Amino acid sequence: MNKSVKFVLDDKIVKVDFAKHPELKPTTTVLNYLRSFPDHKGVKEGCAEGDCGACTIVVAETDVDDKLNYKTLDSCLVFLPMIHGKQLITVENLAIEENKEKILHPVQQLMVETNGSQCGYCTPGIVMSLFGLYKNHNNPSVEIIEDALTGNLCRCTGYKPIVEAARKACTNNGFDHFSKNENKIIALLKKINSDKETILIKNKNQKYFKPFSLSEALRLRKENPNALIINGSTDVALRQTKKNELLSEILDISSVEELKIFKKENNNFYFGAGLTLEQMLKYSDGTIPALEKMLSVFGSLQIRNIATIGGNVGSASPIGDCIPVLFALGAKIKLRSETSERTMPVEDFIKGYRQTDIKSDELITEIIIPEYDSSHYIKSYKVSKRKNLDISTVSGAFRLKFDEEIISEIILAYGGMAAVTKRAVNTEKWFIGKKWSRENVEMAMKILTEEFTPLSDARSEAEFRRTVAGNLLMKFFVETKQI
Ligand SMILES: Cc1cc2nc3c(=O)[nH]c(=O)nc-3n(C[C@H](O)[C@H](O)[C@H](O)COP(=O)(O)OP(=O)(O)OC[C@H]3O[C@@H](n4cnc5c(N)ncnc54)[C@H](O)[C@@H]3O)c2cc1C
Ligand code: FES
Ligand code: FES
Repeated sequence: MNKSVKFVLDDKIVKVDFAKHPELKPTTTVLNYLRSFPDHKGVKEGCAEGDCGACTIVVAETDVDDKLNYKTLDSCLVFLPMIHGKQLITVENLAIEENKEKILHPVQQLMVETNGSQCGYCTPGIVMSLFGLYKNHNNPSVEIIEDALTGNLCRCTGYKPIVEAARKACTNNGFDHFSKNENKIIALLKKINSDKETILIKNKNQKYFKPFSLSEALRLRKENPNALIINGSTDVALRQTKKNELLSEILDISSVEELKIFKKENNNFYFGAGLTLEQMLKYSDGTIPALEKMLSVFGSLQIRNIATIGGNVGSASPIGDCIPVLFALGAKIKLRSETSERTMPVEDFIKGYRQTDIKSDELITEIIIPEYDSSHYIKSYKVSKRKNLDISTVSGAFRLKFDEEIISEIILAYGGMAAVTKRAVNTEKWFIGKKWSRENVEMAMKILTEEFTPLSDARSEAEFRRTVAGNLLMKFFVETKQI
């Protein structure tokens, strides 16, 4: 097994040999690693939980067509082995020197010209988000610019000049000095990625496994049933960064390509569990509107670029945003071990507060969503204190079918109303055979409030949650009448 991690930084392959660097743990974050160098200190720690964007970096990786894809990430949530085989770009790499003169990258130059640069703490992260935008969009709309900046918090003045800088800078089809250097970088990455031997980093307190194939991942899962599975680690990393927990055994499946496949076959959409939520957003755009709507307000771009659908279901959080939508879509989950595989409704997989039906030798490999026809109305809603980068206070996903106004099928799935995502089964039963009318929805809202005993917490009072749950049902009614 390989004992080191390799990536490209400053146009060179960097090999991190943990045995020679006892100051580094396998769970050292990319943020802390970078800050240990004098010339990569532009990256900052603000919150260490993915909320402020001061630690934003860009990671470039090759896709199936051997092209480089540039993604912004929050380096405070990324463990060092997760960037193995990728190019790491920091704010220090953006400007170049020509004839002894420093030439700023177009996004930096425009930040200067529009007075977008304010405090030195957040600006490097903001510039990296603009760089990610520059590489991915030409003449982006204000919505796209705002989405790219959702994960960057500025408390001092405002975003107007920053949005202006983005608008003016992103006009060159992403062309810059990185474009000229891509062939060299691709060759370096290929050299690293040609070695598919599992990485094992071990010290006296920790073991970190990083396999490159599903069969190897399943073998390691069986041999190490207590190892904590991570994919995007946006949920798990916080146990270390915020709770100071020592993560003693980790199975990192983020480089297993078989888990990143999307296909549409036999009236089903098959989403690999390792697809990022940003990839899910693209695949569901125009095909599964309820999922697309929920994902468009999920975290920030930095989070969606690495968090996975398998991780969202695997965390079984009562406020996991994809889970109610998957209930309403009638989605199934596929689980595999070395010797078996099984498929079950997502609904049956979630067993309790952050508890699932997974066995100690299994991995979630796929989420299967059946296609549905236009006789079904399926919609999703998220209510949170802020529209973006906030977790749900209450979420809802509803499915309805009626024939000549009479309800024949209904699913009312709620997040944030109980310790688990929960269907309002009594209300659903009451609806069957009744007319889909305002009067009946008003009656159902009363039944609905009796079905849940939500918590009062920092996000809201229980009473507010109950009221919102009923109001979402009414909103669904109104929207179905407008179609
Ligand atoms: C700033 C921030 C914003 C967020 N915003 C939202 C939000 O808007 N909505 C929301 O729902 N969540 C949000 N989250 C939570 C988190 O990002 C999501 O739950 C995400 O989908 C987790 O995916 P991951 O790949 O990062 O999971 P990981 O952290 O890698 O894993 C999460 C859990 O799933 C398990 N797991 C992962 N993959 C598999 C697999 N293939 N098989 C078996 N088990 C697996 C892990 O063992 C772990 O228990 C946010 C988190 C942060 C830090
Ligand atoms: S330090 Fe705030 S998002 Fe990473
Ligand atoms: S740029 Fe740092 S608070 Fe506004």
